[in-house]
Amino acid sequence: MSYQIALIKGDGIGPEIVESAVCVLDRIAEKHHLTFSYQSYLAGGCAIDATGEPLPQSTVDGCLAADSVLLGAVGGPKWDTLPGNIRPERALLGLRSALGLYTNLRPARLYPALKDACPLRADIVAKGFDLLMVRELTGGIYFGERGRREGKFGPEAWDTEAYSVMEVERIARAALSAARKRRKSVISIDKANVLETSRLWRETVHRVAEEYPDVTVEDMLVDNAAMQLVRNPSRFDVVVTSNMFGDILSDEASQISGSIGLLPSASLGEGKRGLYEPIHGSAPDIAGQNKANPLATILSASMMLRYAFDLDEAANEIESAVDACLADGCRTADIADTNTEKILSCSEMTEEVVRRL
Ligand code: IPM
Ligand code: MN
Repeated sequence: MSYQIALIKGDGIGPEIVESAVCVLDRIAEKHHLTFSYQSYLAGGCAIDATGEPLPQSTVDGCLAADSVLLGAVGGPKWDTLPGNIRPERALLGLRSALGLYTNLRPARLYPALKDACPLRADIVAKGFDLLMVRELTGGIYFGERGRREGKFGPEAWDTEAYSVMEVERIARAALSAARKRRKSVISIDKANVLETSRLWRETVHRVAEEYPDVTVEDMLVDNAAMQLVRNPSRFDVVVTSNMFGDILSDEASQISGSIGLLPSASLGEGKRGLYEPIHGSAPDIAGQNKANPLATILSASMMLRYAFDLDEAANEIESAVDACLADGCRTADIADTNTEKILSCSEMTEEVVRRL
């Protein structure tokens, strides 16, 4: 079989980590007699520098023509002062919207080998956790109307949160279906004690849940969820929430897993094509120094094999190789105990993964 993969290396550490994932994919291709062909496209700050816009149409067209998209990271201080509509982040929002990627899957779990990197108390760490954040990705306040106007206290700005029943139904189905392949529990997170969108969200999730009698569904207010994630993360299996709540809570979930450098994500729509990217950013402070942790991007490539290409066996192999590296003590700087462990570079860590495949 042959697959076309669009690569968006982006900014900062993006090129290094995408290169790592490609090394791993090439090893998988060799092992399973597959062909991956890659085509690189510009997005983010590097696209602004080259073309004046964060998401050139040629990038959107290239992604639409590919079987799947692998993205490194976009953004950096160089472009931080640009106006909102031409910031590098627009590229991500534009791609999500243009490709119809309304479901964002962000798994977070505690790697036993990394339990010392977990900032939680030992008795909480001992229980471990393994959760899947399902974040709505093309609606809500990220895409609502916004503007500036003259208000009661002078100039003001406004953003709006809106959710249609259809948007909530489809993300609820994504979460409920994912739960069926896991521990059959969904916690839906909202702010229904205050927000009307949350009340519609809650009603709709429960109506859709009737189609999934084998899955238990519980509601949790977002402020409580932020607290429970650090108090008792083992109680979460699948979490479903809106675009902005999901953005915030997924960073929290990544932090308790020990390092944001480990967490992959998949953004999916209808059909098989998706966009796969680490949840961390472009880390401009270490860009170009071969210091980045490539594991989140390697694990994103593994999610791509699983969801876009149905290559579950190959995906499992990558995940096992990463587990084995960590269990064997391979550490990049972000997850190392600096006093005792040898620190691997991005390319050395990649070699360790490839060697175990
Ligand atoms: C993420 C990022 C993006 C988001 C930004 C860069 C637009 O934080 O993927 O979580 O808020 O969705
Ligand atoms: Mn985020």
